[in-house]
Amino acid sequence: HVAAAAAADGKNIVRRKLTGYVGFANLPNQWHRKSVRKGFNFNVMVVGESGLGKSTLVNTLFNTSLYPPKERKGPSADIIPKTVSIQSISADIEENGVRLRLTVVDTPGFGDFVNNDESWRPIVDNIDSRFDAFHDAENKVNRMNIIDNRVHACVYFIQPTGHSLKPLDIEVMKRLHTKVNLIPVIAKADTLTDEEVAVFKKRILADIHYHDIQIFEGPRYELDDDETIAENNEIMSKVPFAVVGSNTEFQNADGRQVRGRKYPWGVIEVDNEEHCDFVKLRQMLIRTHMEELKEHTNNFLYENYRSEKLTSLGVAQDPSVFKEVNPAVKQEEERTLHEQKLAKMEAEMKMVFQQKVAEKESKLRQSEDELYARHREMKDQLEKQRVDLEEKKTRIETGRPLEEKKGRKGFSLR
Ligand code: GTP
Repeated sequence: HVAAAAAADGKNIVRRKLTGYVGFANLPNQWHRKSVRKGFNFNVMVVGESGLGKSTLVNTLFNTSLYPPKERKGPSADIIPKTVSIQSISADIEENGVRLRLTVVDTPGFGDFVNNDESWRPIVDNIDSRFDAFHDAENKVNRMNIIDNRVHACVYFIQPTGHSLKPLDIEVMKRLHTKVNLIPVIAKADTLTDEEVAVFKKRILADIHYHDIQIFEGPRYELDDDETIAENNEIMSKVPFAVVGSNTEFQNADGRQVRGRKYPWGVIEVDNEEHCDFVKLRQMLIRTHMEELKEHTNNFLYENYRSEKLTSLGVAQDPSVFKEVNPAVKQEEERTLHEQKLAKMEAEMKMVFQQKVAEKESKLRQSEDELYARHREMKDQLEKQRVDLEEKKTRIETGRPLEEKKGRKGFSLR
């Protein structure tokens, strides 16, 4: 039985109920199978001063010894790096048949110098070069297998001072926040008491707010169900996450084997939400928001970078592309444009005509003047001839001989 329902949102979409099973309810499963076959990739950057436990936390997060134990830097000047060097380590990890290619971008040397003014530069350059590589790959003829090396999340380690953010933290965060999803964490939170952590978190958030630093805020889907929204709010309420890292297992007071750090007064459990926010950080990064982080990187951060880059290269964006086209308005616009063109042509023709008339008139006036002048000249000549003839006539009539005139003329010459 097919029942038509009301048109949705005023558009001509009719809702129908199906009588039997068609099969498109299986679409999510298709997507699931395809994604699992393809595998996933996730690139996370860790930024923070040396010794804050970055390597330990990454190993704890993915429950793997991704980072081999590091050689400690010696006192000799030639083995102390002069700048922040960027290193990336990739590993294929698998859980219940789902493959994840994890890449960790580390920033050794950050904050290690007497002058750390430019510490952020190699990090920003590295993020930009990853965007550039993706942009180049997108513009190639073959775009089938683009490898996404962009940084999807940046875990920023804050020293557990208990005071507030350091100027270096603020400077670096300000440089990074438009390019990556910033996730601030308080490193080695086991060195602070619960009250200290609470006060420190408030100060950090106040600093972040004061300096207009944009940190990752999770998805803002109004369409999500209440449970998902509550879960998201719960995770976000822990930012900046106070974390403790360790891959070493100990027996706790109940006799359970737990990952943690052992102190004379007891064991701090990494995976216990009562002890630290590690679980919430892992939940956000891996279990619930990994896709969101990747989407936000692609849709906002990369898009911003791309349009800024194209604008700086002189490629102007056509605002009309984003205007919704209304056929009636467009037709009216075209008509006005056509009328304007006609009016302009008419004015031009009138001008040319007037110019031609003026030229003709001046030519006519000139030839009229010439004619008058010639006429006057001829009239003068005729008048002169008339006077001569008149004189001759009078002389003949009075009978004066012509010779007399001649003789008199000869006499006068003598
Ligand atoms: P670099 O490689 O120099 O950048 O250091 P890192 O930030 O990677 O620190 P790493 O993980 O090597 O840890 C430095 C030291 O801190 C080690 O001795 C760790 O055992 C210790 N450590 C790591 N995480 C924690 C933690 O959560 N709490 C405490 N108290 N110590 C930790």
